Amino acid sequence: MVNPRPVVASLPAYRPGRNPADLAREIGVDRAVKLASNEVAFPPLPAVVQAVAAAATQTNRYPDNGAVVLTRALAERYGVDPRQVATGCGAVTLCQELAQAYNDPGSSIAFAWRSFEMYPLLASVAGARALRVPLVPGRPDGVADTHDLDGLLAAVDESTRLVFVCNPNNPTGTAVRRAELERFLDAVPAQTLVVLDEAYREFVTDPDVPDGIELMRGRPNVAVLRTFSKAWGLAGLRVGYLLAEDPAVAEAVRKTHVPFSVSMLAQAAAVAALASEDEVRARCAAVTAERERLTSALRDRGLDVADSQANFVWLPVGEQAAELAGALEARAVIVRPFAGEGVRVTVGTPEEDDLFLAALDDALDTAGLRG
Ligand SMILES: Cc1ncc(COP(=O)(O)O)c(C=O)c1O
Repeated sequence: MVNPRPVVASLPAYRPGRNPADLAREIGVDRAVKLASNEVAFPPLPAVVQAVAAAATQTNRYPDNGAVVLTRALAERYGVDPRQVATGCGAVTLCQELAQAYNDPGSSIAFAWRSFEMYPLLASVAGARALRVPLVPGRPDGVADTHDLDGLLAAVDESTRLVFVCNPNNPTGTAVRRAELERFLDAVPAQTLVVLDEAYREFVTDPDVPDGIELMRGRPNVAVLRTFSKAWGLAGLRVGYLLAEDPAVAEAVRKTHVPFSVSMLAQAAAVAALASEDEVRARCAAVTAERERLTSALRDRGLDVADSQANFVWLPVGEQAAELAGALEARAVIVRPFAGEGVRVTVGTPEEDDLFLAALDDALDTAGLRG
């Protein structure tokens, strides 16, 4: 038998999320609702569908490996030089490429925990140490759901090549504010790259939550990660991007790029989506209005829900997480449990969210999960 590297053998096997059609069939209902992956419920933008259809006629050719048109469109949109941009097959691939570019075995990657589940995996695969800094309560008497930037700074040592700050944080939805983030960025040593993972930036409504691209300016050890998967509605096409103040950072990422991994369809779709930004903004406004309604409805039920700046809400139900998610699934609603910690629920359409709330009421009453 050929054994993988021990670190790979020890990684958890990938467990795909439930497919709503399969679940509906299994439990004998017409329809199940999936609120587990932080996608937006809107169909792809009309301009995206057109661009993909047009690009489909060219797919006997390789995509543009440099994503020149998309890179230029991103550079223009954000007022940076194209040399400061790297594109990737989803932001997740850019995370991997960052670790490949910056982490030798024995180095470290620091991040808050709980946060985006890829961060510890990246560290393992790179042979780097994962420095997990526990979240702290964001509200008096609240649960630990917010970045501890002082703790993160204290964890950084001379071996730390990357720090991920997920803002807003997945899965808790909380965000760090401008003054504390600026203080943190100014204090991180120059040889450590801070990656502001802003996968959910477009859903931020609090003006005090800073735009990482503004904070990046003048700070050569800061980069910003964004994705077309969430607000822009392209989760199925896999495209994300990194903007770096120092073009050398984007170049290092481009050097580890998996060739042609941003497909022709993804590039065309992303360019079309950027040109439809007004529609995207309107959709995000609908999502954030619905987020506020869902948050109030959950608080009315006595649940301790923090203000979310993303397109999901966090139910910190602790040890009941797996049981609650199972009870909801039995009622045709798929959410994302984090065992022992809580349940993350994507903001869906008002109708989907009403189905979720009804299933929740039933689960809390019948499954004895209330209180
Ligand atoms: C915080 C965060 N970063 C990055 C990603 C990766 O997004 P994608 O690879 O779809 O671009 C996600 C996806 O869930 C995320 O939650």
